[in-house]
Amino acid sequence: MKILAFQGSPRLGGNTDLLLEAFLKGAREAGAECEKINLYRINIKPCLECGECDTTGECVIPDDMAQIYPKIDAADVIVVASPIFFYNITSYTQALVERSQARWVCKYVLKKDPPFGKKKAGVFLSLGATKGKKLFEGVQRVIRYFFDAVYADYEGGLFYRGVEKKGAIKDHPTALKEAYNLGLCVGRGEPRESWPLVREKTP
Ligand SMILES: Cc1cc2nc3c(=O)[nH]c(=O)nc-3n(C[C@H](O)[C@H](O)[C@H](O)COP(=O)(O)O)c2cc1C
Repeated sequence: MKILAFQGSPRLGGNTDLLLEAFLKGAREAGAECEKINLYRINIKPCLECGECDTTGECVIPDDMAQIYPKIDAADVIVVASPIFFYNITSYTQALVERSQARWVCKYVLKKDPPFGKKKAGVFLSLGATKGKKLFEGVQRVIRYFFDAVYADYEGGLFYRGVEKKGAIKDHPTALKEAYNLGLCVGRGEPRESWPLVREKTP
């Protein structure tokens, strides 16, 4: 079980990072092989719409995404964690999403089979400061399309409102425990239908 996790907040050690770490703690304890990538620490440019991948499925932008594509291909589970910035995922996370265009071409234009024949799962972790009812609606749609492009099924996620100051997630009554438990279930390879997460209601 290989889990690849993207941490999309620039505030390292902040709420998203802590939530993701709780998930990864559970997953590691369950025996999964986990890798966390802080998107803030690496260099991923947004898609340039150059069209080079249209015929090859390979992105030609010379940045750190070149090392990320094979990691995505090899993963069984992909976790994306991002705080809400202006009702959106962060720009760091969005750059990753845009660069999945090269895999979208592989899947839908070149009709290539999933890498290593894997039917991956996608999990999304997110949080924001406000209590908005629709806070996680738009971002889930974005993330679902990202997962679809990289041959993963979006299973759902964990979402927390009213979390603002650095470290505030530690005061949330259930968040870190829920993330840890989810990590345990995912890491143990339990059936996806039984994962304790919130499933998207409107596709
Ligand atoms: C530029 C920026 C924009 C933000 N926009 C929103 C927003 O639209 N809705 C919201 O609920 N919180 C918003 N927030 C608050 C963050 O989501 C919140 O503080 C969160 O806990 C940050 O998580 P982190 O510690 O992982 O970075 C924003 C924060 C920043 C810095």
